[in-house]
Amino acid sequence: MSSNTPDMRVSVAGVELRSPVIAASGTFGYGVEFEEIVSMERIGAFVTKGLSREPMQGNPTPRIIETSAGMINAIGLQNMGVRPFVEEKLPKLRSMKGAVVIANVFGYTVEDCLEVIRVLNDAEGIAMYELNASCPNTSHGGIAFGVDPSLLYELVSRTRGASRRPLMVKLSPNVTSIGQMARVAADAGADAVSLVNTFVSLAIDIETGKPRIANVTGGLSGPAIKPIAVRMVHDAAKSVRIPVVGMGGIARAEDAVEFMMAGATAVQVGTASYADPRAVENIANGMRKWCASHQVEHVGQLTGAALL
Ligand SMILES: Cc1cc2nc3c(=O)[nH]c(=O)nc-3n(C[C@H](O)[C@H](O)[C@H](O)COP(=O)(O)O)c2cc1C
Repeated sequence: MSSNTPDMRVSVAGVELRSPVIAASGTFGYGVEFEEIVSMERIGAFVTKGLSREPMQGNPTPRIIETSAGMINAIGLQNMGVRPFVEEKLPKLRSMKGAVVIANVFGYTVEDCLEVIRVLNDAEGIAMYELNASCPNTSHGGIAFGVDPSLLYELVSRTRGASRRPLMVKLSPNVTSIGQMARVAADAGADAVSLVNTFVSLAIDIETGKPRIANVTGGLSGPAIKPIAVRMVHDAAKSVRIPVVGMGGIARAEDAVEFMMAGATAVQVGTASYADPRAVENIANGMRKWCASHQVEHVGQLTGAALL
């Protein structure tokens, strides 16, 4: 294949994607909302909003604020619940040409996660699961699964056992050693890892002396976190053999290239969709142009090109 028409296909845990650029969870709704905005045939896949066993209202407002070079959110994982998703959204997604659906799963106990997976297992039209390990585990005093190696191992090994599809584990970045957590996920049977989720953060309104987010803390995302995310993807990629899907502040095709050079097999785009709802498609198109102009015949050649 000539470098003017670079091959943009990648494979993540056995799932073939037309492009390495994926829309990130929580920033692309249930996919159907983007039908008229983004061509599903031009992006690799999209990840649904986090799906829980029962519907969730989320946190009180304000729950999103802008910061310099990013945003803080504490949506509180609001979602319609896994059964309404399967009944009301999946039929539509199945009819959308080229849509590759990755279902994001979370729960406050391992059992909650298993139940979500069981419901999804019986549904057609999902390529892969992404398990959000940043959720607090209410059986263990609210500590996030993804910050404790033994909790993470138990969560991943049990959900892997129940999954009839490839399982990608989305790691929490709020840890000392992301390489260690990536290894724990891989040892427990994860087919891929994705990172980073948002960083715990706090912003204060100095006139009122009150937090700017009703939940007090929230997750920081956007360009502000990109260099930290690139470092973490690099650490994770050096630590495991399974594919690493990188994200955190990707706003341009060049950012996506940087994550791949750090070791990512594919990338996700989140916050950028708030500034430009077509960002995911634009970044996918831009990456193809970048590869063509840099004589990269296959985008997979970028993966780990700068792994030190
Ligand atoms: C408003 C909002 C909602 C999000 N909801 C979820 C979610 O439900 N599940 C999840 O795993 N990640 C969620 N995320 C995290 C993103 O998928 C992504 O990991 C993070 O924002 C970093 O990428 P970015 O800088 O490109 O946004 C959310 C992010 C934002 C900004």
